[in-house]
Amino acid sequence: MGTVKPWSRSEPTRSPFALPSGLGGWFAGRIMLWLNEQQDVVDLLDVRPGEVVLEVGYGPGGLIRRLRRTSAKRICGVDPSQQMCDLVRRRADERIEVRTGTVERTGFRDAEFDCAVSVNNVAIWPNLERGLDELRRVTRPGGRLLIAWHGGTHPNRIARSQALREDQLTRIEQELGKRFTTTARHELTSLTAWLAR
Ligand SMILES: C[S@@+](CC[C@H](N)C(=O)[O-])C[C@H]1O[C@@H](n2cnc3c(N)ncnc32)[C@H](O)[C@@H]1O
Repeated sequence: MGTVKPWSRSEPTRSPFALPSGLGGWFAGRIMLWLNEQQDVVDLLDVRPGEVVLEVGYGPGGLIRRLRRTSAKRICGVDPSQQMCDLVRRRADERIEVRTGTVERTGFRDAEFDCAVSVNNVAIWPNLERGLDELRRVTRPGGRLLIAWHGGTHPNRIARSQALREDQLTRIEQELGKRFTTTARHELTSLTAWLAR
């Protein structure tokens, strides 16, 4: 099992939710598919016909499944977990391209995406600023970035236990503001989300 040192915590973590692998990763993947509500995110992202979308930290692929039902032209993903990559690839169709990689190094070209999205992994990234720099780079001018983390108006027990402190939420918002023209915060059912343009 891999170790991750998130920017939001003082200690490294070996949680299978932070970097799924082995049996623990398999169980974490099932739990994420079961508990992580993604429809609010799809609604807020509002993918338009023909758009090209990137998801970072796709995990077991709950959001990719829903994005398939939109009229996106292409849906790409990066996640450092080989286990999650294999899992999502098994169900992928020709519109989906998932790779191993990280938010700091997605491996995609400048301005390749109309929109990029990250759900429940921003607090796990090792470096918030480097991750946002990379997402700004791969999002086209005028495109959108949606970042979401546990929180919202009706958080379940897990979401409550993972909620970030207000100063950490403010830091995310300020760093988005340095890179995008507008940033709006939304309280979804069990996620706090920012949509930046
Ligand atoms: C808690 S899971 C969330 C998965 C999915 N987005 C969901 O909401 O169900 C966190 C995911 O982020 C991935 N991850 C960890 N570090 C990352 C990084 N530096 N860049 C991108 N993804 C990362 C993990 O491998 C894992 O699949």
